[in-house]
Amino acid sequence: MSQLSSKHLLGICDITEDDINLIFKTAENFKQVINRPIKKVPSLRDITIANVFFENSTRTKISFELAEKRLSADVVNFSSSNSSVKKGETLIDTVNNILAMKVDMVVMRHPAPGAHQFLSRHIDANIINAGDGTHEHPTQALLDAFSIRESLGDLKDKKIAIIGDILHSRVALSNIYCLQKLGAKVTVCGPPTLLPRHIRSLGVEVSHNLQETLEWCDCANMLRIQLERQEDKYFPSLREYSLQYGVTMPMLQNLKKEIILMHPGPINRGVEITSEVADSEQSIILNQVENGVAIRMAILYLLAGKQNS
Ligand code: CP
Repeated sequence: MSQLSSKHLLGICDITEDDINLIFKTAENFKQVINRPIKKVPSLRDITIANVFFENSTRTKISFELAEKRLSADVVNFSSSNSSVKKGETLIDTVNNILAMKVDMVVMRHPAPGAHQFLSRHIDANIINAGDGTHEHPTQALLDAFSIRESLGDLKDKKIAIIGDILHSRVALSNIYCLQKLGAKVTVCGPPTLLPRHIRSLGVEVSHNLQETLEWCDCANMLRIQLERQEDKYFPSLREYSLQYGVTMPMLQNLKKEIILMHPGPINRGVEITSEVADSEQSIILNQVENGVAIRMAILYLLAGKQNS
């Protein structure tokens, strides 16, 4: 297989195991490219990509922009906070106006779950989901799975724990879909108030006990408490959350086996993990960020190949 099954990347839910493996194989080649002294290839010369961000981002936005530039694409960046969205322009009008300037692909982050599916019914260009509200963050899940595979090998039967604020996390849902498609076993762990009521229907195990979860897993993906998405109070205080669900170095050192630690960022140091854990040998957090560029190059390259097929 040399092509993706879809012209968009809207979510991991919509892609196949073969798609994921093709993205990984392509990303391995691009990882070699970006570690060379000359990091640029001409693959997307004459392709124009718009990065359209209706929400804040550090990693995803920079990573996409670097991936696009490494592939020699022309890049325009749109941020809703200083745009005509503030004057009431709709999503479809905004994107159609950008596309009228001969843009070929749209990378979009939007606070509304499903915004990308909605847009895909109204425009012709390839759309890549860079995060839609609490729904999906497919490129994060792909770079996460790629980074786990790099550290632990084939994901089949690997035990992955996703710990923290699952309820508000698009990273959690995309990771669950991606890891399960690759044959991994997934447990979600957190306080009952931060786990969606029907999460078991996705085929994951559920735990409220951090110590037991750490003893079970090969890899712990620590998620941030998303205070900006929380209208209600889900736990008494950050201090109490941290005492029950924060990972510390002594906890890792007392486990019978060495596990790896991940975090999609941004980290709340001292809440979900201590600084010592974040910066430890067991943390692969910066590997995730490095791999993000290669994964996004692979996705852009493969979707560009789908443009007229
Ligand atoms: N992981 C992630 O999506 O980070 P940003 O919000 O900084 O893009």
